[in-house]
Amino acid sequence: MKRSGISKTNWGNGVSDLHVRNVTQRFSSALGEVHAVDDVSFSVAQGKFVGLVGPSGCGKSSLLLMMAGLLTPTEGKILLGNEEIVAPRPQEIGVVFQESSLLPWKTALENVEFPLKLRGVPQAERQARAIGMLELVGLKDFVHRFPHELSGGMKQRVSIARGFCQDSDLLLMDEPFAALDEQTRMTLGDELLAIWEKHKKTAVFVTHSLTEAVYLCDEVIIMGVRPGRILKRLEIDLPRPRTYTMMATERFGQLRNEIWELIRMGH
Ligand SMILES: Nc1ncnc2c1ncn2[C@@H]1O[C@H](COP(=O)(O)OP(=O)(O)O)[C@@H](O)[C@H]1O
Ligand SMILES: [Mg+2]
Repeated sequence: MKRSGISKTNWGNGVSDLHVRNVTQRFSSALGEVHAVDDVSFSVAQGKFVGLVGPSGCGKSSLLLMMAGLLTPTEGKILLGNEEIVAPRPQEIGVVFQESSLLPWKTALENVEFPLKLRGVPQAERQARAIGMLELVGLKDFVHRFPHELSGGMKQRVSIARGFCQDSDLLLMDEPFAALDEQTRMTLGDELLAIWEKHKKTAVFVTHSLTEAVYLCDEVIIMGVRPGRILKRLEIDLPRPRTYTMMATERFGQLRNEIWELIRMGH
C-alpha cells in the first residue's frame, strides 16, 4: 500500500498542545435548554493520539466541534498551543466528521486537494499527495468523480483522505469509520496509525468502538451521560506499533473491559 509523501514536521516544541479549559456547552432551543458538556478540562500533548468515548448524547461531537472552532463554548476556552481556537483554522486543524462534508461541485480529487490549495501548496505537489491518499483509501479509479457519483462509504473515504492529507497540527475525527465495513475500518485504522506515527501530529478520535479506541490510542477519555463530564482518563499502555495480535492479549481485554464498565455504570 502507498504511504503519503508528507514531509513537514514540527515535533517536540509543544506548538500544538491542545488545552480544553473548563468548557461547558449549553444549547437553547424552543424546547428548552440542553446542557451538553459540563466543565470539561483536559490537555493533549503534541503528538499524542487521544480517544473520546461515551454514551450517545454525552457531548462528544459538541466537544469536537468546539475544538474545530465551529461552535463557541458557552463557558471556558480551548487553545491550540497558546492561541485560543475561536474560528475554523484549516491550516492547522483538520477535521473528519461522521457525515462526509464534501463540496458537491468539486471532484474527489479537488475535494482532497482543497485544504492544501488554501495553504498554498503548489499544484503538482498537492495533486500527487491527494492522489496518493485517494489510492490509500481505495479510490484510485474514482478521483475524478463528483460526490453524487459516489456511494456513502466512498464519500466518507474521500473525507478521510482529505483529513489525512492535510498534515494539520491537530486532526479531529468524529466517528470517521462508523459507516464503513469492518475490513475497511481495520485497514484505514492501520493506515491512520502509519500516517500518525510518521508525523506525530496531535489526534483526537471519537468512536463507539471500544476495540478501535484501545487499538489506536495512547489514552482514552471516557465520558459519562449528559451533561458530558470526564469519568476517567485511561492510559493505553500497549506498545507501538500496534498489531492485530495484541487484540487477543489479556491486557487488551482488560483495558477494553475497564472502559466498558465505566460506560455501563455511567458514573
Ligand atoms: N445544535 C444543537 N442544538 C441543540 N441541542 C444539541 C445541538 N447539538 C447537540 N445537541 C444536544 O446536545 C447533546 C450532546 O450531543 P452530541 O455532542 O452530539 O453528543 P454525542 O456526540 O456524544 O452523541 C445531545 O442531547 C444533543 O441532542
Ligand atoms: Mg456524536
